[in-house]
Amino acid sequence: MSVTMFDVASRAAEYDARAPQDILRLALESFETVGISFSGAEDVVLIDMALKIRPDIRVFSLDTGRLHVETYRFLEQVRKHYHIDIDVLSPDAAGVEKMVRAKGLFSFYQEGHKECCGVRKVLPLRRKLATLDAWVTGQRKDQSPGTRANVPVVEEDRAFSAAGRTLFKFNPLANWSSKQVWHYIRSNDVPSNELHQRGFISIGCEPCTRPVLPNQHEREGRWWWEEETMKECGLHAGNPAVPGKT
Ligand code: ADX
Ligand code: SF4
Repeated sequence: MSVTMFDVASRAAEYDARAPQDILRLALESFETVGISFSGAEDVVLIDMALKIRPDIRVFSLDTGRLHVETYRFLEQVRKHYHIDIDVLSPDAAGVEKMVRAKGLFSFYQEGHKECCGVRKVLPLRRKLATLDAWVTGQRKDQSPGTRANVPVVEEDRAFSAAGRTLFKFNPLANWSSKQVWHYIRSNDVPSNELHQRGFISIGCEPCTRPVLPNQHEREGRWWWEEETMKECGLHAGNPAVPGKT
């Protein structure tokens, strides 16, 4: 389908109450080049679901250079388990070297995570998204009340669209709860990151992720030294505002 024919507002309304598999099918059948962004956590369900729709999916992961060794092992496990290629993207070496030379390896604890996430995640993502018509993420509303409560199932990605080229972003799990995701993982024998067995719920980079205690929200394990509304790294910069949050 031509992107100009894709009426995103009506599709978002029509698919809001539909199953993640229907939303994935809409993405995969509407656009030529669709990339599934895989963080190495429970968003593995998207790969399992997409492969049941078509075998030739495109999957990419942003290797920040700071992921847990368990996550690297899990990327390999998923690659082998599903017999798929995963496009593992590295940050620009000169950009990382310049930042580390000037600020050291842990500047995010003092200055906030924006600069490091910008170099290690957002720039490589921008490079990748320039090659795609649409991308698919594992974002869910229940992951972050401060920033994700209004995530739609499909949207125009204003943060990464270029002049004259609209990029679409699908969030098939937006309305699923963590419980539903984990039910799917168990019922379909989907492999999972071993960190989940050690109290990690949300998983990002090693220095910026920690396990949470009982009854702590999963987002409290990410960038725990920063306040709730700052806990986005720029991948999802266009998330619609949440009323009452600044
Ligand atoms: S983050 O922006 O705070 O890091 P989060 O870990 O909640 O994101 O993951 C939400 C979704 O963003 C994932 O399901 C995935 O689609 C995408 N994502 C996050 N980190 C990566 C990564 N390193 N590589 C590819 N996609 C990612
Ligand atoms: Fe850097 Fe932490 Fe962002 Fe990873 S999550 S890119 S280590 S600031």
